[in-house]
Amino acid sequence: MNPLLASDAGLAYDSAMETARTIADVRRAVAAARGAGKRIHLVPTMGALHEGHRSLLRAARADGRLVVASIFVNPTQFGPGEDFERYPRPVEADLDICGQDGVDVVFLPSVAEMYPPDGRTTVHVAGLTKRLCGAHRPGHFDGVTTVVLKLFNIVQPDAAYFGQKDGQQVAVIRRMVADLDVPTEIVVCPTVRDTDGVALSSRNAYLEPDQRRRARCLIEALRLGEAMIRDGERRPDTITRAIRARIEATGGCTIDYIEAVDLATLEPAAWIDRPCMLAGAIRIGSTRLIDNVVVDVSDGGG
Ligand code: PAJ
Repeated sequence: MNPLLASDAGLAYDSAMETARTIADVRRAVAAARGAGKRIHLVPTMGALHEGHRSLLRAARADGRLVVASIFVNPTQFGPGEDFERYPRPVEADLDICGQDGVDVVFLPSVAEMYPPDGRTTVHVAGLTKRLCGAHRPGHFDGVTTVVLKLFNIVQPDAAYFGQKDGQQVAVIRRMVADLDVPTEIVVCPTVRDTDGVALSSRNAYLEPDQRRRARCLIEALRLGEAMIRDGERRPDTITRAIRARIEATGGCTIDYIEAVDLATLEPAAWIDRPCMLAGAIRIGSTRLIDNVVVDVSDGGG
């Protein structure tokens, strides 16, 4: 018995939802829907679904669309010593959520299905993957772009949905899609936050209560930087220094990076005179958290 099939496991999710474990199965489901005139929307995830993911699933849902959600903890985007093994995998709860949020097809491939042993090709976006998280997680974005392009080739979606929470990932995927002429529209959804402002993340589950309280300092510090820009400050160094000081004052957190970068190129901003992203990564214990705010001085701020 396959415990992932609704009929076998008796789960509460929509019985019309299909669970595809192989590339051939998901392609079949997509081809049938396309034949019926539907557009295809893809939401790539690594599971452990929370309200952030759910906002993407709901945004992808519309009449005449087939919503495909992929759940795949992609080993190639985790470095040695990172949390690939302990990454949460609550498959049944995830399927339940997909059913509630109107997903039509869940693609749940195995590692062997996605990466046969004879594979030799990776996708590398140069330049903007070196910076920010890329500087601290070598090879991470090659893993992301390779798996995302594979998912795009498998599902051939008209649109794919990503969260601004992972701002560098968005910039890298946009670059890849433009450079490789991928005919998929990239839709970016705002970061969903907890009531205290902390961005929802599957990794928040690793935090002890005291660490979770300290985690607030990242968004509070980024918002302080945002307020400085709105008040007219244009010097990136002054802004990032203030953000760092706010985090350091909290204690118990190590800063990986705090930067003000151009939204599209991710190059460090020399002066805040165009849309920029204040981005940061901190470590609390062994947990790494990232967040960002986008500030556009041309939208009336400052
Ligand atoms: P994962 O971390 O599971 O995130 C899946 C998608 O959900 C990403 O686009 C991410 O930006 C978005 N997301 C996560 N937290 C969010 C939040 N609080 N608000 C809004 N969106 C949020 O990102 C990945 O997986 C992987 O790198 C993937 C793209 C699936 C490739 O393996």
